[in-house]
Amino acid sequence: SSPLRVHAEAQGKFIGTALATSPLANETAYRNIAATEFNQITAENAMKWDATESSPNQFNFSGADQIMAFAEQNGQQVHGHTLVWHNQTPNWVQSLSATEMRSAMQNHISRVAGRYASNPVLKSWDVVNEVFEENGSLRNSFWYQRLGESYIADAFRYAKAADPDAKLCINDYNVEGVNAKSTAMYNLVRTLRAQNVPVDCVGFQSHLAIQYGFPNIQENMQRFADLGVEVRVTEIDVRMQMPRSSAKDATQATYYSNVVKACLAVSRCSGVTIWGFTDKHSWVPDTFSGEGAALIYDENYAKKASYTAVHDAL
Ligand code: XIL
Repeated sequence: SSPLRVHAEAQGKFIGTALATSPLANETAYRNIAATEFNQITAENAMKWDATESSPNQFNFSGADQIMAFAEQNGQQVHGHTLVWHNQTPNWVQSLSATEMRSAMQNHISRVAGRYASNPVLKSWDVVNEVFEENGSLRNSFWYQRLGESYIADAFRYAKAADPDAKLCINDYNVEGVNAKSTAMYNLVRTLRAQNVPVDCVGFQSHLAIQYGFPNIQENMQRFADLGVEVRVTEIDVRMQMPRSSAKDATQATYYSNVVKACLAVSRCSGVTIWGFTDKHSWVPDTFSGEGAALIYDENYAKKASYTAVHDAL
């Protein structure tokens, strides 16, 4: 049966994966599946601040360029991730004064987004990532503490100046269903757009877990789409409490299938990116104690029920 990307392309959607630079350089199976099955790539870590500007105004694009070159070779588009976040941002940024922090943010966005602005492979950026608390307040991050909520609009304006053609996104987790956090995001997106802040797109990370139930993602995506913004699933994985079982795999497969179907049902949904593809390389076991097996290939690169579910939903 034909690869996922063939089916996604026929529907006018992307099917993406996050890629890590080390297996991309070292593992043939990883490279082959990444090249064959997906038509969109997100750097799992290589475009983050700690990777691209670990010291003030000292830029290193080796990992980011590796991801870009792979995508170019394989006819894939790249989603840039991420310009402004509270994690994986060096301490030197966090200890700046307000004036210094705003100019460091502008410089970072201008250099990182600016580097790929003329490259047609780079289509979109997560401009800000995870700016909300679970209750819908703005996250009390070092960005917010030093700059107040204006840092969000400023980040979008700086990104627009650096890459006028990229789709500019706000991205978060636990915003897949209709809830306090997603409603806060909805209100912020509506307000920013009313102020002509260039927010084009909303990313739903979709780090799901079978024990927590399936969110009403289609209803939620549709209300954002009705604001006129593009929506997308940016980081889906569906974890389970270990050990794996065929029953858990079957439940997981329905989650993947339902997310893909929701995106197909919302015309402004541009596609679905999975946060990796093989259980051999997944952030889940390192982050969620006792959980794992969240992706669509197992640790030996064999297709799981969830691969078939994505394939059949497309
Ligand atoms: C994760 C990566 O997968 C890990 O390798 C890294 O150690 C930490 O970050 N939300 C995001 C992603 O936006 O950037 C995170 O990626 C997962 C949660």
